[in-house]
Amino acid sequence: MLGVEVIVGGFMSVDGKIAPADRNGKEFTQFMMPRHKKMLHRIRASVDAIVVGVGTVLADDPTLTVRAVEGKNPLRVVLDSKAQTPLTAKIADTDQASTLIVTTRQASKEKIQALRNKGIDVFISSSEKAVNLRELIEALKNRGIRRVLVEGGAEVRWSFFESNLVDELFVWIMPYVWGGRDAPTLVGGQGFLGTQEAKKLELKNMEHIEGLLILWFAVQN
Ligand SMILES: NC(=O)c1ccc[n+]([C@@H]2O[C@H](COP(=O)([O-])OP(=O)(O)OC[C@H]3O[C@@H](n4cnc5c(N)ncnc54)[C@H](OP(=O)(O)O)[C@@H]3O)[C@@H](O)[C@H]2O)c1
Repeated sequence: MLGVEVIVGGFMSVDGKIAPADRNGKEFTQFMMPRHKKMLHRIRASVDAIVVGVGTVLADDPTLTVRAVEGKNPLRVVLDSKAQTPLTAKIADTDQASTLIVTTRQASKEKIQALRNKGIDVFISSSEKAVNLRELIEALKNRGIRRVLVEGGAEVRWSFFESNLVDELFVWIMPYVWGGRDAPTLVGGQGFLGTQEAKKLELKNMEHIEGLLILWFAVQN
């Protein structure tokens, strides 16, 4: 889309949960075998940027680097309207990989400066509330980025689907039922209400690898 390929990916239980109800997503990653980790890191190494929401940074404190295979670290991008990313977050450490925080005018100037002092690139979106994704894609394109992986969480995935910006979706389904009405699902947000709006997917590939069912879809926009 817009000259930038966008892939959305996620890891979920059979009942569609991406974390337990307490939102501790690290609990889920324990089900990932070394081979799965390598696969995920290979996908990371194949993109120019990884996008997550600040909800994922606050819940999981991810590193989002390529460690399990040889490969370059993509640019790590956090959608963070109020610049809430802690200065102590792993993603705020730019020694191993670069980080871009995309924020809005809601963020304090002091926090923006503190992030910049740590070597983090900060882009201020013109939108008043959530980061405008089309503007984000243009900003990434201007930085030479052509392929993006959106790793989560539920709200950010929804925004990309709602904005018709997703080209491909991969889902890793682990053989568990987790339950929990408050547990986040693969895609959150307001959701579509009618069959006309629901996103149509085309199954492109299906694999069963060490307990995980892996589905790849093309998205029909
Ligand atoms: N299993 C998996 O594959 C996986 C992967 C990642 C995360 N997770 C889990 O997902 C949960 C976090 O997901 P989440 O849905 O709560 O948070 P999220 O999607 O990571 O982040 C959402 C936040 O991002 C900010 N944001 C800024 N611009 C946005 C935009 N255009 N669209 C959407 N959000 C925007 C908003 O906060 P501001 O208004 O403050 O900017 C919003 O509340 C955690 O439990 C984590 O463990 C699971």
